[in-house]
Amino acid sequence: LTIGVLVSGNGSNLQAIIDRIEDGSLPARIACVISNKADAYALDRAKCHGITVHVLDHRIHAGRESYDAALVELLRSHGVRLVVLAGFMRIVTPVLIGAFPHAIMNIHPALLPAFPGLHAQRQALQYGVKVSGCTVHFVDEGTDTGPIIIQAVVPVLDDDTEDTLSARIQKEEHHIYPEAVNLFAQGRLTVDDRKVIIAPAS
Ligand code: GRF
Repeated sequence: LTIGVLVSGNGSNLQAIIDRIEDGSLPARIACVISNKADAYALDRAKCHGITVHVLDHRIHAGRESYDAALVELLRSHGVRLVVLAGFMRIVTPVLIGAFPHAIMNIHPALLPAFPGLHAQRQALQYGVKVSGCTVHFVDEGTDTGPIIIQAVVPVLDDDTEDTLSARIQKEEHHIYPEAVNLFAQGRLTVDDRKVIIAPAS
């Protein structure tokens, strides 16, 4: 499976995917890592592993659609079949979504549909939930609304801060994101009536 990873920041989820590819437990190849920010640490991680990187600066594009058209062209030129959003801090438009139907994934640091959007961990703490977690989902036109692939749960502790809760959630992200990509690579994911069906391992 040829994948393209879109990033804006640290890239710890990118790293988790790279690690599983390199240990042989994820049958995929990262054809390119694309960042909208030139200083994203994720780019250093990719280069360290010999992965092609591109910086596509959103500020030089007139609008979101023209930016996404450039993304599509770049991803297609690399033969990408699955687009993995890993801390990509941009809203994507139907231009990208239509080019990769049910083939764009995102990870969100809450148990969707609870706490979509920015600062999900802060929202969870403010609400007072006793568990939270993370969700890998296919991307559709809404914000964090697409069909859910895998979720993992963590406890929320009385003395948690945004940082301690985020760290606990991220540990789980690094397990479930590569696993979701693995299920896709094995052809085990189908979407029916907006729900993801996971076929048993053959
Ligand atoms: C993660 O917390 C993810 O849930 C959110 O952005 C963060 C990315 O972290 N979508 P990293 O860049 O993969 O370290």
